[in-house]
Amino acid sequence: MTLSSTTPRPLIAGNWKMNGLSVALDEARAVAAALEAKPPAARVAIFPPATLLHRLSQAVEGAHLLTGGQDCHGKSSGAHTGDVSAEMIADAGGSLVICGHSERRTDHGETSAQVAGKAEAAAAAGLEPIVCVGETLETREAGQAVSFVVSQVRDSLPTSLAGKAFSVAYEPLWAIGTGRTASVDNIVEMHAAIRAELVSRFGEQGRTVLILYGGSVKPENAREILAAPEVGGALVGGASLKAKDFLAIIQAL
Ligand code: PGA
Repeated sequence: MTLSSTTPRPLIAGNWKMNGLSVALDEARAVAAALEAKPPAARVAIFPPATLLHRLSQAVEGAHLLTGGQDCHGKSSGAHTGDVSAEMIADAGGSLVICGHSERRTDHGETSAQVAGKAEAAAAAGLEPIVCVGETLETREAGQAVSFVVSQVRDSLPTSLAGKAFSVAYEPLWAIGTGRTASVDNIVEMHAAIRAELVSRFGEQGRTVLILYGGSVKPENAREILAAPEVGGALVGGASLKAKDFLAIIQAL
């Protein structure tokens, strides 16, 4: 996807992680129906498990709801048992893909160099990558959160994203699935540092790349987080599984 010259609309992304059987398609249909009745201020996307991507994309086709993959391989095809390529995600109806989520970095040992390869493959297949970064509690307590995350941004974004649509998601690991959110001050400080890195790397384009926040975003805290400077949307895990909660977050914008 090529970048438009205007500032992109915010993005609210629902990451279902390894949750969702066929019956969960009803939640996506409910989100699509509500957004049809009241079009959202943001772009909205759901990232179901790979097994549901095609059916979910078909179920919400034509609605104000995009779909995407939770990960992709750096190659377009080949002998990589169990992996899914960016082309396959596009073929299944997805238009975005999450790259380098901390659960992939932790559970599968993904390095920032590999994440950059995935983001490059995603853009080459016409998908919009959401590249995730974030520090552990240990790194934050050592006072190194900002320098750690900025270097993750540097190493996880391939130069080939210049001129392409992509976003960055800041997700402190200690806030994911814990019910604990970063303070607005923490978020503002980190997003400003990520913005500076994006501008130094991508020039003018770096000013408009969306920086999402993720980590225990819920209906109760969404408004405050989404109103903070340099917050271009949210990557929502647990609270995206139920249409009612996800819609409340979408409507907080
Ligand atoms: P959470 O997950 O909202 O359940 O904390 C966010 C994420 O990991 O994307």
